[in-house]
Amino acid sequence: MDHMEIRTEIPLQQYTTMRLGGTARFMASATSVNEVRELYNSAKVQGIPIFVLGGGSNVIARDEGFEGAVLLNRIKGFAVLTDDGQTATIKVGAGEIWDEVVKRTVAMGLSGIEAMSAIPGTAGAAPVQNVGAYGQEVADVLTELEAYDSLADRVVTLDAAECGFSYRHSIFRGEASGRYCILSIIIKLHHAAPKPPFYAGLQRYLTDMNITTFTPQVIRDAVMAIRFDKLPDPTERPNAGSFFKNALIESWQLSELREQYPDVPCYDMPDGRHKVPTGWLIEQAGLKGALLHGMRVHDKNALVLINESATSYHDLAAARDAIIQAVYDKFHIQIQQEPLEI
Ligand code: EPU
Repeated sequence: MDHMEIRTEIPLQQYTTMRLGGTARFMASATSVNEVRELYNSAKVQGIPIFVLGGGSNVIARDEGFEGAVLLNRIKGFAVLTDDGQTATIKVGAGEIWDEVVKRTVAMGLSGIEAMSAIPGTAGAAPVQNVGAYGQEVADVLTELEAYDSLADRVVTLDAAECGFSYRHSIFRGEASGRYCILSIIIKLHHAAPKPPFYAGLQRYLTDMNITTFTPQVIRDAVMAIRFDKLPDPTERPNAGSFFKNALIESWQLSELREQYPDVPCYDMPDGRHKVPTGWLIEQAGLKGALLHGMRVHDKNALVLINESATSYHDLAAARDAIIQAVYDKFHIQIQQEPLEI
């Protein structure tokens, strides 16, 4: 590993937007598949694990740190593979900044990811949690991805079905956690203009602004305006976006909930379950705007926790557990943390 710089004892606070936690024993940036392979092979020899980090905007670092190597995925690339005037397929390096990709495809007049504007992080991280916002999700546009398979020590192509996407989930944070390093993603976008019906919050904004002509750029601008209002900028107020997943509940649970709370917002899922916004549950539990162990429950969106004065993962965990307990006590719904942990 002569040309790769391997650094030691790196504070993970500097690499995660929540700005908490301990140190990584080793850290290295990879800009090519060869560097990825080199790093995995050397970690295997040393018997240490690897954790792949993109922008660190959906990863929480524990206080004990990471006794392995953090691989900063910095593989670049943006190439239009096909474009027949109706649809275009684009290959994007995993280390590209996601929002730069959105900006670029929107400028090309392409639709498919414009509602996922202004999401922090990298393109390679997007499939891991099946990023989604304002009615679009990665699973809808990703046709396949290339990944380094550390088990087989080779590069593989996985199609969308093999990625096992569901709400905020994929094999990469489930059964195949730790196995793959995503190298590039291929997305399929459309030249046709975005069409209503739009996601409720987005439609409300468009109606309020009297917007009736929809282009990818119009939707991008609208989403950015909504996000800037509702979501704190992680570079100013440390946070990891939605800290909890929205709750998926069964029909009988929804019926019970509606008896007491007839106005509970909810979206029907294709699998017959119902998605109840956890922001609403936390707000109803009286915690919107609360300060718990140095963590602020965002006053504009209770799904977001901001690190105001917490000094450790321990503080964050205490705040998180208090919120989970308060929601459980009130609704008997067990909410789940959304960001991954290193
Ligand atoms: N709501 C409340 N109180 C709150 C927050 C939300 O009552 O404090 C209600 C809203 O009134 C609305 C519903 O919950 O009826 C949904 O709210 P919103 O549209 O703001 O979206 P969200 O459920 O809070 C999800 C994603 C966001 C994504 C938005 C828009 C998850 C975990 N979060 O949030 O993703 O931007 O939808 O599509 O699914 C992220 O993952 O980091 C993220 C920001």
